[in-house]
Amino acid sequence: MEDSTVQEDIEKVLYSQADIQATVARLGKELTTDYQGKNPLFICILKGAIVFMTDLIRQVDDFVEIDFMDVSSYGNATVSSGEVKILKDLDTSVQGRDVVIVEDIVDTGATLNYLIKLLSTRQAKTIKIVALMDKAAGRKLPVKADYVGFDVPNEFVVGYGLDYAEKYRNLPYIGVLAPRVYEQ
Ligand code: XMP
Ligand code: MG
Repeated sequence: MEDSTVQEDIEKVLYSQADIQATVARLGKELTTDYQGKNPLFICILKGAIVFMTDLIRQVDDFVEIDFMDVSSYGNATVSSGEVKILKDLDTSVQGRDVVIVEDIVDTGATLNYLIKLLSTRQAKTIKIVALMDKAAGRKLPVKADYVGFDVPNEFVVGYGLDYAEKYRNLPYIGVLAPRVYEQ
């Protein structure tokens, strides 16, 4: 049994449901313009980007295809291990495709650095990154998202798909986790 509620574990709300909705709509408009007639393949990076992906594609007003990939660099810690491994690969070939990687948050850049190299090797025609959040202070590799929802402070955030030890993904907003949750 938990001794606190989901809401009590959130120290502060960074982005409300309304903030997220407006930002996702803005990103969807930009992608609609930039990918007109290109039938891009949106690759959702599991599990964190799942909520963002499902909202985002409904804001793109043209043909898109989707696929999923699960990579891991984190484990249950709030600090990146820097190591990336594939837990689930794509079903679709990216060869000759305009690929849009859909990521929840760019931190050290290790995940995206790895994915860009991998998808280039597989001969994607173009590779762009849409990240709901960019934690620039965490960057260790020179990775830049092409579309960014929010520039976030260097804090551990959860909700709207993002977890801590698999919890909090179902929160409809994004918040900062109370440090006591991971310090205990
Ligand atoms: P890297 O370091 O590879 O990290 O850029 C990207 C992945 O790390 C996870 N991550 C977070 N997850 N709250 C989370 O729930 C955070 O504040 C956070 N920072 C990084 C995330 O899975 C992302 O895909
Ligand atoms: Mg992730």
